[in-house]
Amino acid sequence: MKSIKVGLLGIGTVGAGTFNVLKRNQEEITRRAGRGIEIAMVADLNVERAKELTNGTCVVVNDANVVVNNPDIDIVIELIGGYGIAKELVLKAIANGKHVVTANKALLATHGNEIFKAAQEKGVMVAFEAAVAGGIPIIKALREGLTANRIQWIAGIINGTTNFILSEMRDKGLDFDTVLKEAQRLGYAEADPTFDIEGVDAAHKATIMSAIAFGMPVQFDKAHVEGITKLEAVDIRYAEQLGYRIKLLGITKRTAKGIELRVHPTLIPSKRLIANVEGAMNAVLVHGDAVGATLYYGKGAGAEPTASAVIADLVDITRLATADPEHRVPYLAFQPHAMSDTPILPMAEITTSYYLRMQVADQPGVLADVTRILADATISIDAMLQKEPAEGEIQTDIIMLTHQTQEKNVIAAIAKIEALATVVGNVTKIRMEELS
Ligand code: HSE
Repeated sequence: MKSIKVGLLGIGTVGAGTFNVLKRNQEEITRRAGRGIEIAMVADLNVERAKELTNGTCVVVNDANVVVNNPDIDIVIELIGGYGIAKELVLKAIANGKHVVTANKALLATHGNEIFKAAQEKGVMVAFEAAVAGGIPIIKALREGLTANRIQWIAGIINGTTNFILSEMRDKGLDFDTVLKEAQRLGYAEADPTFDIEGVDAAHKATIMSAIAFGMPVQFDKAHVEGITKLEAVDIRYAEQLGYRIKLLGITKRTAKGIELRVHPTLIPSKRLIANVEGAMNAVLVHGDAVGATLYYGKGAGAEPTASAVIADLVDITRLATADPEHRVPYLAFQPHAMSDTPILPMAEITTSYYLRMQVADQPGVLADVTRILADATISIDAMLQKEPAEGEIQTDIIMLTHQTQEKNVIAAIAKIEALATVVGNVTKIRMEELS
């Protein structure tokens, strides 16, 4: 059978990885796919470099439109990134009847609904394994492997840059700014690392997983997005003393009132497997009602790990290209007519436990005032740590871990605690998940 023809848009790190892995493992991939997969065209602004990388094996152009308009191309791989030109090209490829593979989480989290609708109307596939957690086949697991389950929650370390930074802060006791510079020097963090450190990248990925897990449209605009820039080394230390580690988690959870969708630094018990995922590695914990907890671990970025996911999508599409569109795996796991409109809850309505750190005057009655405020807000204390004041100091740190409560109760209680004359400055609040 004649090879399926692929057009690659962007041959940077992941594009080059895809090209190389496809070439290296060509024989086995063909045996799996049932026919050859051939990168027939590459579009990249840096034509010289693209020619060098592809070594005369395919046509290289500098205009991606030439690829998406070429009638010989069956599948377009979009590795340009961002929402502008990438969106235009993906929609154009779909309109031209081409299947699309993309690693672009920002695009899918913000414009996925429009893209999937266009693809459905045209009867083409849009595959995006590489968009979430790089080489870990988490989309496949959620969409197919766990299809029997009512998914209850997902919690993932889905940004390697921030996990590297948090690991270094904990290991070396360094502050955020110092470690960020180190991460940039080592090439983990981008020159502009905003999307990583502010939690946006993780929120894009959590949004996609949430849609697949619960069968609802992608709704990035409703996600709570909080990064690690305000995290202090002292909280990492105190958390450790209490048996917890702080990770930037992407969390999505089914509750009786709606869906929680949030990214923020989170205390998790040190003994959990996922708490021990260090450096730039990713891991996703999924809880289904039938299977219980399942954990997926691997490299969330990098040329060949991401290429592994891109090529898995190419093989899937190659196998299903001639299948009736009605009988393919739905984009978001659930049939388009069976999508749910369950609301995503505002943060005030979410339920979790909390780590609270406050600096107080070391004098009688202070603790009683604080615990009275928490009791009045129906917040129950689970554990407490009080540090000896440093030599010559009259103030001390109090750290409290609460039982589960609603976020709005904690916010109201914190406002009252901060108003106490004996409390200095702001109360630090970090959410906690037992993940049991
Ligand atoms: N910037 C991402 C990370 C990799 O640090 O994990 C691509 O999603």
